[in-house]
Amino acid sequence: MDLNLDRVIDNLNSLRAHLNTGTGILAVVKSNAYGHGLTPLVQTLAPHVQYFGVANLTEALAIRDLGIALPILIFGHLGPHEVARALEWDLTVSVSDLAYGGWVQEEASRIGVNAKVHVKIDTGMGRFGFPAADAVADILALSRMSRLKLEGLYTHFSQAELANDTITEDQIQQFDFCHRLLRKEGLVFEWVHASNSAGIIQYPHAQFNMVRPGLALYGCHTVPYLRDKISLKPVMSLKARWVLIKTMKRGQAIGYGRSHILSRDTNIGILPVGYGHGYPFALSDRAKVLYRGRTYPVVGRVSMDYIAVDLGPENAVQVGDRVTLIGSEGGARLLAEDLAALAGTIPYELLTGLNPSIERVCRDKIITRPAATPDAIRALSNPAL
Ligand SMILES: Cc1ncc(COP(=O)(O)O)c(C=O)c1O
Repeated sequence: MDLNLDRVIDNLNSLRAHLNTGTGILAVVKSNAYGHGLTPLVQTLAPHVQYFGVANLTEALAIRDLGIALPILIFGHLGPHEVARALEWDLTVSVSDLAYGGWVQEEASRIGVNAKVHVKIDTGMGRFGFPAADAVADILALSRMSRLKLEGLYTHFSQAELANDTITEDQIQQFDFCHRLLRKEGLVFEWVHASNSAGIIQYPHAQFNMVRPGLALYGCHTVPYLRDKISLKPVMSLKARWVLIKTMKRGQAIGYGRSHILSRDTNIGILPVGYGHGYPFALSDRAKVLYRGRTYPVVGRVSMDYIAVDLGPENAVQVGDRVTLIGSEGGARLLAEDLAALAGTIPYELLTGLNPSIERVCRDKIITRPAATPDAIRALSNPAL
């Protein structure tokens, strides 16, 4: 996988052009930075954003392990043994109900720290969050828990990719209403946030004082029609090299289930990428790859480790040459969002499914390697090594 990390900054700048001056940015880097690789993405983003957002404690600690002291909000609920660790590492926890808040309060006083908290309001997502109708009384009760420092207030949109959507407008209004009432009661939050990538682009009046882009940072559009509204550049390209080229005869079958029978004599190229790497099985007999600026069809089923490509009868292909599975080459491009649509899924699933063990390469240098090197495997079987 090639990463063009300059593009992360370009995408941040494109997003900033949609923001009011001074609006903070919480960069969402959960699920291995949307499959791109947590380390390079976090290191690139850290100097340019106010906050990171992750799904769980493991992801937050991985950022702290890199020596990054920036505030990190954990969106998800923490397990019984996780709250204390989160607080020890100065991580910000989301609180969505009073019982959980009480528990964070207990853990904080047990270990003698204050807990930084962002309070979540459910305005229509139907998952975490104080239900908006009763949120104010409950959040005031939360504010009386002495160890909780209520630093942030937030909500999450369920369909901000839709333009002029009454549901999203209603979510914004409910959130704004709660926020105003809480202010009247004397509760002032340092950070107030609602918008994800699509929200930033479609609902400029919902910026409050921080936004939470994820997908857009990586240069991917939530839905195709947002392409006209913001220019984003894909940060990642997925590449592989031909490992085998063979001439095959008309009538021969390719791969598991013999789903593809060749209709002519042709050359078949094999690439060492399969669903084990996150290349969806649903792309069997559907996707195309780019080689020397031309597209070629994937034929037969995607298997765990390989795909087969029909190169045509005439093709002169070199084993070892690089091929693009996601990305652009010679003016042609295969976007992650288009490939996801072809696979009947969303770009989020396609990107986060890309296996962390794929090498990440930046400017021709390997920046993260597969964990299982021969030395690591030998050390596992012989801990004395
Ligand atoms: C709470 C929260 N905020 C923001 C985001 C970012 O959303 P997007 O990737 O659509 O920008 C996510 C992603 O799922 C999220 O869970």
